Amino acid sequence: MSSLPSVGVLVSGSGSNLQAIINAVEGGSIPGKIGVVISNKADAYGLVRARNHGIPTEFVDHRLFDSREAFDARLVEILRSYDIRLVCLAGFMRLLTPTFLSAFPERILNIHPALLPSFPGMHGPRDALNYGVRFSGCTVHFLDEGIDTGPIVAQAVVPVYEDDTEESLAARILKEEHRIYPMAIRLFLEGKLTISGEKVSTGNVGKISDFSRRNPDA
Ligand code: GAR
Repeated sequence: MSSLPSVGVLVSGSGSNLQAIINAVEGGSIPGKIGVVISNKADAYGLVRARNHGIPTEFVDHRLFDSREAFDARLVEILRSYDIRLVCLAGFMRLLTPTFLSAFPERILNIHPALLPSFPGMHGPRDALNYGVRFSGCTVHFLDEGIDTGPIVAQAVVPVYEDDTEESLAARILKEEHRIYPMAIRLFLEGKLTISGEKVSTGNVGKISDFSRRNPDA
């Protein structure tokens, strides 16, 4: 039996972030393994990606439960049965209740396609585009009880161009998601993340010196 810590990944859709995590695990840059992938959607392509790599999968249909708490309790039960150290939400489109949060305190990460606290919710890229911001990006954060809120671990910035569509911006952001999510998971499993209040300290790993950008670059 391997003693590597297990990560549980929750998906609702395509699972491209899951794929990035799988690639990082297989490439040796994440010091852990994926214990289980759970989806609330039977047809989530993320489940196929997991099976293609021999990772156990579970489908839990949220519609079969009387309450969000009952659904969450089932998720917790499954994750505990796989001895999960860290839970990663990767495009998991269900709100989680305190039942879930209290089972994994400071052990749930989420990725969101916007520079939080701006543009939480289901449509980060669309909302950023409609607002007219010049930069957007993505955020990995510890989950708390809000919608896409909680202490921020990592962010990446991308420019928003005037001819962007929701799809082109989302694709530019997604590329960065695939870079920072595996990195954040690695830092967590290496024990480098310390939460104090609203903030996460990483011990200044990967410090970028003299970082500045303008957009438009006139
Ligand atoms: C990603 O862009 C992720 O940030 C977003 O869903 C997409 C899932 O893509 N999550 C949210 O909007 C959470 N509020 P994927 O299934 O290809 O990883």
